[in-house]
Amino acid sequence: MNFVLKGDICWSHDAQHLNTIKDGFLVCEGGIVTGVFKNLPEKYAGLPVEDYSGKLIVPGLTDLHIHAPQYVFRGMKMDLELLEWLNTSAFPEEAKYQDTEYARRAYRIFVDDLRKSGTTRCCMFATLHLPATKVLMELLEESGQISYVGKVNMDRNSPDYLCEESAEASAEATVQWLAETGKAFPRTKPILTPRFIPSCSDELMERLAAIQKEYNLPVQSHLSENHGEISWVQELVPESRFYGDAYDRVGLFGGNVPTIMAHCVHSGEEETELMKKRGVYIAHCPQSNTNLMSGIAPVRTYLEKEIPMGLGSDVAGGAVLSIFRAMADAIQVSKLRAVLVDHNLKPLTMAEAFFLGTKGGGSFFGKVGSFDAGYECDALVLDEGKIPYPQELTIEERLERFIYLSGNDDILHKFVKGRRLF
Ligand code: GUN
Ligand code: FE
Repeated sequence: MNFVLKGDICWSHDAQHLNTIKDGFLVCEGGIVTGVFKNLPEKYAGLPVEDYSGKLIVPGLTDLHIHAPQYVFRGMKMDLELLEWLNTSAFPEEAKYQDTEYARRAYRIFVDDLRKSGTTRCCMFATLHLPATKVLMELLEESGQISYVGKVNMDRNSPDYLCEESAEASAEATVQWLAETGKAFPRTKPILTPRFIPSCSDELMERLAAIQKEYNLPVQSHLSENHGEISWVQELVPESRFYGDAYDRVGLFGGNVPTIMAHCVHSGEEETELMKKRGVYIAHCPQSNTNLMSGIAPVRTYLEKEIPMGLGSDVAGGAVLSIFRAMADAIQVSKLRAVLVDHNLKPLTMAEAFFLGTKGGGSFFGKVGSFDAGYECDALVLDEGKIPYPQELTIEERLERFIYLSGNDDILHKFVKGRRLF
């Protein structure tokens, strides 16, 4: 597990600055980055050097929000808004995971593609089905990826074929799932996953809050994605001051509870302030927000307020797995927001988008997503072979074109916490 990677190394220390070292040496010891050096210090001379001279080496990417069961129907029924899309596409497809053999085939495809991608860390929704969720966790563990996986909770406003019988039944299934998987996997951990307020009764939310305390679990859900959804939450939980307050009332909104909220496209001032106060992570999912016509999240505002944030593919709201693509999408929608919505908001820079997809989201997993000393060593050696160039380019220029052009991530080698996946 001790080795040196040699190449053109690029990483974020903060949102504004990219660090680059041409022909540098990345030293990894016991799964942890010791440092990046222009010249290899004498004391590391005995370590094996993997020579990727001329290739870009960057930190692994984090996908803070994805629906694993939706991978196999990505890129279809993309002409609908959120609530209609859930009813006609997502829910019927997710119901198929009742059949564990179907789930195994579908999750195999998902996990194989995830493994080949630039993503090393992932926070994902499964479905409400316990056996299928276990299969997903087993496949992920085998792949070497590091993930949080959530068995989904939903006990209301869902079709009969994809709805738990009662709050009690949903909570009991969750406890059983935790007993079976909570300590089973070194790299694959459970995360509490109420789907969103419309599909979770007050009683279920309270039961989940009790489970969260007992098992000390992180939490993921959806927040302020779509206007219809937001007014529905106001009707369902009339005493809530805003959408996020419906999670906060039961204690599932940051603070001592590591929490990811996907989207936050239409969060108002109070909700934004509470996310900042509670350290709630925002999973910004630009492609999904475009496909489902949700809107454009005010990421510049979130960055300025220093609310923790990363990127999400939100497959199948988003059609592609690539977090490089999510970086480009995030920059593009931020430009549209600057032109169409708020001229005072500066669009995202490439360095900022790269930060969000690496260190920004990675920090949910601890010291992850950077090559600063002490970070867990997730590293990608990129393959620029399919996008050749004749001119001299800087490392920054090569990284930028890789973000925009790589399509399906073209990764030559991938390391997750110091372990080589390929
Ligand atoms: N809100 C509740 N469920 C979902 C889902 O599956 N996808 C998205 N994008 N939003 C949701
Ligand atoms: Fe989602």
